[in-house]
Amino acid sequence: MIGRHLLSSADLDRHDIETLLETAASMHDVQRRDVKKLPTLRGRTIINLFFEDSTRTRSSFEIAGKWMSADTINISAKGSSTSKGESLRDTVRTITAMSVDALVIRHSASGACHQAAQWVDASVINAGDGTHEHPTQALLDAYTLRHRLGNLEGKHVVIVGDLTHSRVFRSNVITLGTLGARVTVVAPPTLMPSGIGDWSRRDGFATRWELDDVLYGDDPPDALMMLRVQRERMSGGYFPTAREYTVGYGLTRDRLDRLYAVSPDLPILHPGPMNRGLEISAEAADATSSVILDQVSAGVAVRMAVLYHLLSGDPQQHSQGVSGQDLDRGAA
Ligand code: NCD
Repeated sequence: MIGRHLLSSADLDRHDIETLLETAASMHDVQRRDVKKLPTLRGRTIINLFFEDSTRTRSSFEIAGKWMSADTINISAKGSSTSKGESLRDTVRTITAMSVDALVIRHSASGACHQAAQWVDASVINAGDGTHEHPTQALLDAYTLRHRLGNLEGKHVVIVGDLTHSRVFRSNVITLGTLGARVTVVAPPTLMPSGIGDWSRRDGFATRWELDDVLYGDDPPDALMMLRVQRERMSGGYFPTAREYTVGYGLTRDRLDRLYAVSPDLPILHPGPMNRGLEISAEAADATSSVILDQVSAGVAVRMAVLYHLLSGDPQQHSQGVSGQDLDRGAA
């Protein structure tokens, strides 16, 4: 059952994910209306507390809250008292002392959201904690993939890039695995997280070093997710040159042409922000089968669904999904 917080993708079983994706589909319909305001979360207060930069995640949580009539406020580390030395504990306790209902937190430390959830009564939503997890990203990726591929049971999703620093990959292997997809992750040995062997056996995904073998082998991908090279988290040399990375692991125009010769509709995903020319070429990012902007659009619908289920306070709705009419009436 969807609980009070959303801290990890492992918090969600298959039924929870199905329920959230179903609600997100209703929310997506609302997104297409001229007037997007729903009364659903009227009187609720949501704070976006971002200690790391963000474009998509923060704005989509803000839009999601606003479209459901919640009062949403953004606080970023720059410009808050954390830049004066206040601890995370003091910051979150200070904010929640103002009777907020939900805290959406992004922080550079893995585990920061779990910690925060111990300290406050509000619902805590993990919007990315260090190199740990990013559960709403995995949900919006699943939503996007389902829209393109239908049921994900048995579908082969290939995730390529800087796995060491990627919370998106960590949440995705959990959510995609829960939905029955087969996941292969590909990275150079230096960007494979240590201990991934045990972990891949436990969570049932495959790890590979050779991208071309995976792309053009006997089990071609049904979808391809490229991940950003997170240079801001790298202290040493993880690969010799950017050019070498692109040659080995980038979705170049040549690789795309070869893939398209066999599967011209192959969905191409990237959580953004993209390093065009490094992990993904402009041709791939803007290709006809690229769903990168669909991911952004799904991000609002999925975050509306998450806020709705965490804050609407109606346990019946939690297990049954939600209809357009319920939304217009307001659930709370
Ligand atoms: C990702 C993140 O911040 O984890 N971006 C996002 O939320 N859309 C991935 C990244 O930064 O590369």
